[in-house]
Amino acid sequence: MSQSIVKFAVRDLNFHYGPKRALSGISMDIPAGRVTALIGPSGCGKSTFLRCLNRMNDRIPGTRVEGDILLDGANINDAETDVADLRRRVGLVFQKPNPFPQSIFDNVAFGPRALSLTDGQRLGDIVEQSLMDAALWDEVKDKLREPALDLALGQQQRVCLARVLAVQPEVILMDEPCSALDPIATLKIEELIARLKEKYTIVIVTHNMQQAARVSDLTGMFWLGELVEFDRTDRIFTRPSAQLTADYVTGRSG
Ligand SMILES: Nc1ncnc2c1ncn2[C@@H]1O[C@H](COP(=O)(O)OP(=O)(O)O)[C@@H](O)[C@H]1O
Ligand SMILES: [Mg+2]
Repeated sequence: MSQSIVKFAVRDLNFHYGPKRALSGISMDIPAGRVTALIGPSGCGKSTFLRCLNRMNDRIPGTRVEGDILLDGANINDAETDVADLRRRVGLVFQKPNPFPQSIFDNVAFGPRALSLTDGQRLGDIVEQSLMDAALWDEVKDKLREPALDLALGQQQRVCLARVLAVQPEVILMDEPCSALDPIATLKIEELIARLKEKYTIVIVTHNMQQAARVSDLTGMFWLGELVEFDRTDRIFTRPSAQLTADYVTGRSG
């Protein structure tokens, strides 16, 4: 890993919801162009951590962040950070597919329109390219004006991914993106992740150990708000250094 470029450098990150501390002393270097998986039992802070990376927690009143999160070397919590631009660069795909109650086209065009990235002609090209990159174009090209919510769940999740891709992000965060999907739809997303990592940095939370082992290059094990271990995925699954990790990945705990 030593040669790879660090996309996110996280240093001594603490995060509080009011009086409750949800993350303690997290430090990790998330490499560019790789897939980093985050695992650990429910409630251990994985989603909170993911939301710290594009300041999605800002929306929750009473929260407090300490420590540094550097994206390409710049602290995202600095006062001068343009949060809208941060969220364009660092997109988030949620657990439950959440397309807007609009057409497929309008869902994918939403970001480019909001950011005035383009004129009408280019917008069509951006929507087509984003749907292609999300491996959905062939399935929807004849019904772009139909409601995204009429699609199957797995397709809806790929609309959400296309919506993120349409604003040319650098990092894609995924919070258990397959937990609402059937195995075939899950496989499609996993194949997509393998392709997308050539262009993007991906961080995925998953409770599915096989999925973490299949799709990721690095795995971080969270436990009660702390990062217990962070290493190459093959090591985490074959010879982890922490007993907590060993117990969790073999299903003895969590
Ligand atoms: N909006 C919130 N307000 C208060 N506490 C929260 C909020 N979201 C999460 N928490 C708490 O923070 C801890 C970590 O939650 P979360 O990041 O969702 O864990 P995970 O994704 O690993 O299941 C949990 O104790 C949870 O109850
Ligand atoms: Mg979660």
